[in-house]
Amino acid sequence: MKNTIRFVLDGKIREVDFSKYPELKPTTTVLNYLRSFPEHKGVKEGCAEGDCGACTIVIAEIGENEKLVYKTLDSCLVFLPMIHGKQLITVENLAITENNEKSLHLVQQLLVETNGSQCGYCTPGIVMSLFGIYKNHQNPTKEIIEDALTGNLCRCTGYQPIIEAAQKACVNNCEDHFSKSEKEVVELLKKINSNTETITIKNKSQKYFKPFSISEALRLRNENPNAIIINGSTDIALRQTKKNEFFAEILDLSGVSELKNIKVENNSIVFGAGITIEQVRNYSIEKFPALNKILNVFGSLQIRNIATIGGNVGSASPIGDTLPVLFAYCAKIKLQSENSERIIAIEDFIIGYRQADIKNDELITEVIIPKQDKTGVVNSYKISKRKDMDISTVSSAFKLKLSGESVSEILLAFGGMAAVTKRAKETEKLLIGKKWNRENVETAMKILEKEFTPLSDARSEAEFRSTAAKNLLLKFYLETKQN
Ligand SMILES: Cc1cc2nc3c(=O)[nH]c(=O)nc-3n(C[C@H](O)[C@H](O)[C@H](O)COP(=O)(O)OP(=O)(O)OC[C@H]3O[C@@H](n4cnc5c(N)ncnc54)[C@H](O)[C@@H]3O)c2cc1C
Ligand code: FES
Ligand code: FES
Repeated sequence: MKNTIRFVLDGKIREVDFSKYPELKPTTTVLNYLRSFPEHKGVKEGCAEGDCGACTIVIAEIGENEKLVYKTLDSCLVFLPMIHGKQLITVENLAITENNEKSLHLVQQLLVETNGSQCGYCTPGIVMSLFGIYKNHQNPTKEIIEDALTGNLCRCTGYQPIIEAAQKACVNNCEDHFSKSEKEVVELLKKINSNTETITIKNKSQKYFKPFSISEALRLRNENPNAIIINGSTDIALRQTKKNEFFAEILDLSGVSELKNIKVENNSIVFGAGITIEQVRNYSIEKFPALNKILNVFGSLQIRNIATIGGNVGSASPIGDTLPVLFAYCAKIKLQSENSERIIAIEDFIIGYRQADIKNDELITEVIIPKQDKTGVVNSYKISKRKDMDISTVSSAFKLKLSGESVSEILLAFGGMAAVTKRAKETEKLLIGKKWNRENVETAMKILEKEFTPLSDARSEAEFRSTAAKNLLLKFYLETKQN
């Protein structure tokens, strides 16, 4: 398909032909697109970096059994072609007019009744998050509600009435006028998605490719080695919205369904690179609890709903939250090009500050985590200035196996302590074969201090990082000591 994307908005298929609207670029965000219409100005720009939630929208896509799956997203970080083949729901779509009478959606009505509605800047985004809870949970716990509102900042009032509105709205089922029109919307989406020809949007200065299969993605990668790869775009979009970077070429993998599978193999669980952080979080509760723990404090629901595991390892950030725990679980990365594939250990994949071992014809296609036996323990920790919606100051993940009272295997991985996620190999060496007791751990803490020279930056002083890293090891010991 040339220069055209299609999605469902206001109950109809909306076609955007980029060649007809020169003011629209393929990298125009959904937020800016919506705000160009008088009838969709409820969505607001607060921060343009995924922090405030004023721009929250809901996207519905076809899930299992042809039911729609509703997800909240920050529209300030989503490029317009990323919503091709989906339903876009804005705050204006929630209330309906029947027989000349306008009735609010239940979540809106209850927000009014509980006095939870405050300023016009944040409230539309808060309403969309409440709608997201409504469509996904019956009788949600306070924890679920608070988690879904983490990405909606309100500085003027308390959250209590907003939480109360969610509790009151979500008591029975998620029926509403969206449920009534679900089948029609599914049919419209099926119609759009039946065309799987790569979308190519070209103007004088930009090329944007959105393939729908791995083979097409690899072909395009080979032909356009300089194109910026995006999956969820939560890292990349910031470079545009905050640093005013211009992207001349983009390869958008968000439509490649083969990258969105979780496979259970004999010895491992294989996450497609396009699996979202929220899907990994839910899947890992029992299988990889240390991964689940770190993902419970990863961004907000709006971010986790679109950010991917492939994007997190691909950004190779020294404070990428999945990295230390993937080190501890001895994960591997599968890289594919048109003519080859290779699987490498995550440790070898990270080669420098925000630098990964990816050749310019390769894509990350899988993150492979070996199944864990019960003989060892893995735990993860994140230290940040606040619990939610913050990036790590220091993070760590540790793996320990004991043979009797002695350490037979230990892996200590840290984020935020160096330019890359790094193992404390000297400290590990000291502990191997030693008794797992406080005396040896305290000696190890002295070695650990020498192994890293962390930076001082806006998030913390070097000394804090050093002390925190040592204390995390001590904490791990206290949690795993045998008596
Ligand atoms: C408000 C906010 C909060 C955040 N909170 C956290 C947090 O708590 N913890 C954390 O770790 N991160 C956080 N992030 C960062 C970001 O969300 C994560 O790094 C996320 O996992 C990136 O995934 P993505 O799919 O959005 O990546 P994208 O932005 O699409 O891509 C990221 C990088 O990976 C590369 N890439 C992506 N997919 C592939 C592929 N298949 N093959 C090769 N290269 C690829 C891209 O080229 C790019 O360099 C936050 C970001 C925001 C905006
Ligand atoms: S404008 Fe603040 S999260 Fe999008
Ligand atoms: S509702 Fe906008 S600051 Fe509180």
